[in-house]
Amino acid sequence: MTFKVEECDDSDMPHTFEIISQAFAHEHQYIDAAFPAHSEPASRANGASRMLSTKHQDPCAKFLKVIDQDTGTMIAQAKWNIYQNTIPPEFDLDGEFWDDEEEKEYAQLLCREYLLPRREAIRDSGGNLMPLELLTVDPKFQRRGAGRLLVQWGTSLADELGFAAVVEATDCGVGLYQSEGLEDRGRWQTRLPKKWENSRGKQRFTWMVRPAGNNFGN
Ligand SMILES: CC(C)(COP(=O)(O)OP(=O)(O)OC[C@H]1O[C@@H](n2cnc3c(N)ncnc32)[C@H](O)[C@@H]1OP(=O)(O)O)[C@@H](O)C(=O)NCCC(=O)NCCS
Repeated sequence: MTFKVEECDDSDMPHTFEIISQAFAHEHQYIDAAFPAHSEPASRANGASRMLSTKHQDPCAKFLKVIDQDTGTMIAQAKWNIYQNTIPPEFDLDGEFWDDEEEKEYAQLLCREYLLPRREAIRDSGGNLMPLELLTVDPKFQRRGAGRLLVQWGTSLADELGFAAVVEATDCGVGLYQSEGLEDRGRWQTRLPKKWENSRGKQRFTWMVRPAGNNFGN
């Protein structure tokens, strides 16, 4: 198999979201909360159109895909955010995607909590940072190097720009990121108010940073 990284165009957003939904399944509390019922067709269509809006509205968002050149199939996706002298506005999640106000409130809280270290890192960098926001590989094509290609796409650019790269890593991502120079900066867990302490899930992740001016691999 020969893999190639390319920028996504608008028509890739349904497949992008499908891969996100399949790869995370229901093991990522934040994705489940932000994109309710994301394995159902109507919710997948919603997810795709939300990705498309972000692609159109956020000039710092770079949507990438890996194509298997033997078949022309898209097998993986990533979204790197490239902040150059830009501290993005801190919006809450919003929209009409949730069954009721409590579901929406929970998703908004998880999102705010999830983004705490990233937002602090963006401020500390003066708005010169590359967060890897999403990285997923179609489960049928995992462990064949597609994830690594998408990480390397961003780390190379970060090196060129002299920026740090950061990621909120899932457990299965940590080893890959470490092998590309991202350092484990500690375990994070989203906090919940008392009313949800025993009834709602928390999102856990490893906060990882690849410092600016990294000489990794040189
Ligand atoms: C994590 C993920 C993106 C890795 O992509 P991939 O294309 O399967 O990974 P690669 O083939 O490039 O793997 C490179 C290395 O990462 C590590 N790795 C990959 N998947 C792993 C897993 N599930 N568990 C532990 N280590 C893993 C291995 O060291 C692997 O090298 P090896 O296959 O030679 O042992 C992919 O498994 C995925 O989509 N997972 C579900 C979604 C997710 O958690 N994304 C990360 C969000 S931060």
